[in-house]
Amino acid sequence: MMKHLLDFDGWSRSDLESILETAQMMDAVLERPVKKVPALQGMTVCTAFFENSTRTRLSFELAARRMSADVVTFAAGSSSLSKGESLRDTIETLKAMRVDAFIVRHPASGAAHQVAKFGGSVTLNAGDGCRAHPTQALLDAYTLFKEFGRLEGLNVAIVGDIRHSRVARSNAQLLKILGAKVTLCGPAPLLPKELAGMATLTTDPLEAVKNADAVMALRIQQERMSGGFLPSLNEYMLTYQVNEALLERAKEGAIVLHPGPMLRDLEISGSLADSGRSRIVQQVENGVSVRMAVLYHLLVGKR
Ligand code: CP
Repeated sequence: MMKHLLDFDGWSRSDLESILETAQMMDAVLERPVKKVPALQGMTVCTAFFENSTRTRLSFELAARRMSADVVTFAAGSSSLSKGESLRDTIETLKAMRVDAFIVRHPASGAAHQVAKFGGSVTLNAGDGCRAHPTQALLDAYTLFKEFGRLEGLNVAIVGDIRHSRVARSNAQLLKILGAKVTLCGPAPLLPKELAGMATLTTDPLEAVKNADAVMALRIQQERMSGGFLPSLNEYMLTYQVNEALLERAKEGAIVLHPGPMLRDLEISGSLADSGRSRIVQQVENGVSVRMAVLYHLLVGKR
């Protein structure tokens, strides 16, 4: 097992499969009347989010608490960052408080690697810029595994703003290791050619979803765009919205995923997101078990 989870570089298929197996055990813990195990008793986990989050931060905090860890939350907005303190000095300050693990989200690609370097403790990347969001990919893979009983040979189409998506990159990397086939689809300006080594690329959504077992819609990340990528959101929706008509072109029984936050009736139709084909709520639910499993492997293994 690797020391940190920054992306999937260096991770073996068997280690990743063991995390998914442990997530099944954590599911069983979460079904109990007392949803708590003592695995991380005496350990301290710090969530350090320099960018907003609902799902990832709260599910990591719940996961750590369900395993009896102490949790401290670093809130960038109310910290000494506003006085000019650097990322390095911030992390070294937290390190001096004997934190066992950092869970870090940052708008800059590569920031999680910096935290691993300066913090010394186990570091889990909760999303760095457009680069990686490995626990999101693990929970997506786990959702697919629970649905289909396997990952080998599945076809997964990811449609939307691929350029700015750490979720697309991490899913392409992870699902390839686990034997699934990924197609990335979006308008040409949002579909970087350098991802061709990780997945099939297409600008045609009908081509992307043909034979897909699962279709994942991605948000248009306007906060990461300085302009010029799309002529208009209306035109984008007409071609790329993941809706009932597009899903009709996928395999019978294909499911719909979205990592959230979703913009209803923009990249995904609200009616499809609420339909029986959607596994969006299950993704969130699985996020707690998967993050418990990751913390278990990285922290109990260290102990
Ligand atoms: N999927 C995801 O990372 O959601 P949050 O930004 O709410 O954490």
